[in-house]
This record gives sequence, C-alpha cells and structure tokens, in this order.
Amino acid sequence: MSDANAAVAALRTKTKHQPVVAIVLGSGLGALADDVKAADRIAYETIPGWHRSTAPGHAGELVVGTLEGKPVAVMKGRLHYYEGYDIQDVAFPVRVFNAWGIDTIILTNACGGLNPSFENGDLMVVSDHINFMGTNPLRGPNDDALGPRFPDMVGAYTEELRKLAHAVDPKLKEGVYVAVAGPNFETPAELRMFRGLGADAVGMSTVPEVLVARHMGMRILAISTVTDMATGIPGLIQHVTHEEVLAVANRAGARLATVVKGVVARL
Ligand code: HPA
Repeated sequence: MSDANAAVAALRTKTKHQPVVAIVLGSGLGALADDVKAADRIAYETIPGWHRSTAPGHAGELVVGTLEGKPVAVMKGRLHYYEGYDIQDVAFPVRVFNAWGIDTIILTNACGGLNPSFENGDLMVVSDHINFMGTNPLRGPNDDALGPRFPDMVGAYTEELRKLAHAVDPKLKEGVYVAVAGPNFETPAELRMFRGLGADAVGMSTVPEVLVARHMGMRILAISTVTDMATGIPGLIQHVTHEEVLAVANRAGARLATVVKGVVARL
C-alpha cells in the first residue's frame, strides 16, 4: 500500500497552505476549482502514490488555496474503480487528506436519478449509501492507528453538514446513493432493482472515498448532480451518454459551486 505520509511530505514542499477542508469535484463539475484564490496547482502525477485520472471530463490536479477565506484542497478530477485502479488507489487521496490534517471532506458526483420525483439537474444531498461495487477499499490488513477493523456506518454522512447544505439551498433533494463498479450504465432491470432496494440515485464513485473517510472518523458531505433519469420505468427512462452527463453536470455546476462555497463559508 502506498504511503500517505510520503505524499503529505511532497505536498508540503509544493504549497504553504494548510487545508482544513478537502473537496472532490466529479464529472463536469471542475469549474469550482477556478474560484480558489492564491491557488497552487499540483499535478496528480507529481504526488507520490497518487494516480492520475483517465476519465473524460476529469482533469488531474489538486488545487490548494483559499475558498471563502478557508484553506482548501480541491481535487479537480477523481479516480474511478472502472479506470482499472485498485480500489485502495481510488481512495488513496482521502488517506493523504487525513494524514495532512484535514478532517472534513466534501464529495461531489454525477449520478442517474432513480427516484421518479427527481429531474435532470437536481442536486441531491447523500443521506446514506448502498455499496454495490462488489469491492471495498478497507479490505485487507487494518491499520488500527487510522481506524477500526469494523467501522460503524450509521451517521456516516454528517448530519450537521447536510443541514448546512439545506440551509444554503432549500431546494436541494436528499436521498440514498447506490454505487456500482461501472463502466456501463445500468440496464433497465438493474435500475428497477436498485429502486426496489431503496436507492434514489446511482453512480460509479464516491462510496470508496466515503468508506475510507469514515474509517478515519472524518466529517463527510456528499452532493450528487442528477444528470439523467435512470428509473428503468418505460416512459420515464432515457438513453444516457457520457456527453449528456457532462453537459447537464456543467449546467448544474454553478449552482453546485454556490452550495459548496456556502457550506465552506459556514464551517
Ligand atoms: N448511472 C451511473 N452513473 C451515472 C449515471 C447513471 O445513469 N449518470 C451519471 N453517472
């Protein structure tokens, strides 16, 4: 396993900021990184142990600076399991953030909407998740210094942060996110199954990072952008392409940026 402390040592040579919040930007949601002031832009491949993202719509740099006056580290582009990385590598940045002294993480993603009351462009605060990826970054030897062997997942999505997000934007939805390995979008039968299991949205990210952040006791906020309606219900279902996902995510990006900035300002 890669050493998060080596990555932190390298980061400290590249930036003088000491971030207190980490923000992970999902597909098409990179614009927020441009609002970071006094930014040091650090290419992923220059951080030991940190892989670069190959997914279209994902840049590969860590932007460290201030947002709403608070020191932040913003991941412009994340790593996905479907890119072929080990699941531990996907979540490695979260290990680094924690080793760097960051205790709060805000994760964003693009997702398909399973809840028929949702619409394209809606933003959903994640209240809970279902891990349907078939893997887990906590598998393997446990480092007891970082967290417990069997982490408690009740309340993983920090209530105080969810309340803050709703206070910033009362029109936010809230619901359960189911994570799949991808890379294919789901079949209609899979979508109906996920709805039956109690999920409101489906996507291919976020859960690995949440598991690792929770393991180490970090405070977690996750916000999903509904980029397509993936209900599996004839008449309520649409074909989905990555181009459409990016286009809708880009359009919703400004509103998402306002929510994230509002939360950061109130922390
Ligand atoms: N399914 C899975 N992941 C996604 C989707 C979807 O419909 N839209 C954006 N990410």
